[in-house]
Amino acid sequence: MSDSPRRSFRVDPAASVGGELTVPGDKSISHRALLMGAIAEGHTHVTGFLASEDCLATLRALRQLGVSITEPRAHELVIDGVGAEGLRESRAPLDMGNAGTAMRLFMGLLCGCNFPSRLIGDASLMRRPMERVARPLRLMGARIDTQADRPPVMLHGGCELKGIDYDLPMASAQVKSAILLAALRAQGTTRVTEPAPTRDHTERMLSAYGVTCQRQGATVTLAGGQTLRGTNLQVPGDFSSAAFFIVAGCLAATSGLKICRVGVNPTRTGLLDMLRLMGAQITVTPLKPIGGEPLADISVRAGPLKGAVIPPDLVPLAIDELPVLFIAAACATGETLVTGASELRVKESDRLAVMAEGLSALGVRCELLADGIRIQGGGLHGGRVDSHGDHRVAMAFAMASLRASGSIQIEDVANVATSFPGFDAVARQAGLALSEVDGP
Ligand code: S3P
Repeated sequence: MSDSPRRSFRVDPAASVGGELTVPGDKSISHRALLMGAIAEGHTHVTGFLASEDCLATLRALRQLGVSITEPRAHELVIDGVGAEGLRESRAPLDMGNAGTAMRLFMGLLCGCNFPSRLIGDASLMRRPMERVARPLRLMGARIDTQADRPPVMLHGGCELKGIDYDLPMASAQVKSAILLAALRAQGTTRVTEPAPTRDHTERMLSAYGVTCQRQGATVTLAGGQTLRGTNLQVPGDFSSAAFFIVAGCLAATSGLKICRVGVNPTRTGLLDMLRLMGAQITVTPLKPIGGEPLADISVRAGPLKGAVIPPDLVPLAIDELPVLFIAAACATGETLVTGASELRVKESDRLAVMAEGLSALGVRCELLADGIRIQGGGLHGGRVDSHGDHRVAMAFAMASLRASGSIQIEDVANVATSFPGFDAVARQAGLALSEVDGP
């Protein structure tokens, strides 16, 4: 870390939010567009690309691997695909920054190449588990070292991969996607079975690149040796970024708030079901799909929220939205119970512990469980919250200002730029009284 002061948000109580807004492109889809475009034959043209720190880490790493990528206009990319065998060794390590998705998907993409690669990241990423990806890739024949489950990840390369039948031990789109990317260059067929549905952007995008990838029930099947063909892709607005404003609307959009052109892939929209269980008024107006992904305008209006027992099967469909759901729960009447969410403990921070600490600092009574949290609704006061460098925690607590009785200072917010560059401006446009200040 540099010596520069940690950035903080100061968010004063605001009476209402409203109007119409758009959010930047989808992070998961932007990573995948880059990775698949790199190994495709021919050019890929991407519009709506998310130029956030996480996706730029993927872009820089691909350039290190010899891929030419140009940016003719803001949010547009032209990727000059090098084909299945065209990536070249990078002498320097590939630095994934804060991006778990980048590290795990690169493991799948690179483990079967005929050269070695070393993957590193920032302090948060260097603490995150990687054996969940390394294990199935080793079963395919890859040679991979982690340091007791953590990065740096060493991919030795130079091995022949073979297809596997694999039952995922946890619901993880990153692990599924890493296996599917490795499966592209494996001999034979790979089958991956999920314990619960997870985001299916990889499967949809493989189809857009001309690869046959079939789903039957919980199993995805991919035959190795297929060629990706360069294509044109439009990236929808990121539902996970829209989520902050969906909750803001539930809390304070007395005349309504509309979030335009958001991706509403059903493997991502569990938050809508959770908020509706709590009594929220949300209207989803479908638009023409783009890039094989459903798209919609989402309109929200403020109304009373009541606590709910969240069905655990919705959790993987809202895995990145739980921090902001906890804020909605704190502002509801009655108790909300979330279980089946132990994966939150291995995100950019331990999101269960960090959210419980922040809610407590704002006077919310909550009980931390091994795999979830119990939150007593009823409102919150102002105070100081440490995001622990977690972008989604920082943005979630900004929304708490809409019901807080005093100002909230949210510390260590620089990583908001990993997923939502320009968040502060969009928040102010919606009506939040947010300013960025030097931290302590
Ligand atoms: C992602 C999958 C999810 C999610 C992450 C992005 C992806 O992680 O939390 O932000 O793009 O595949 P897991 O696969 O670990 O559940």
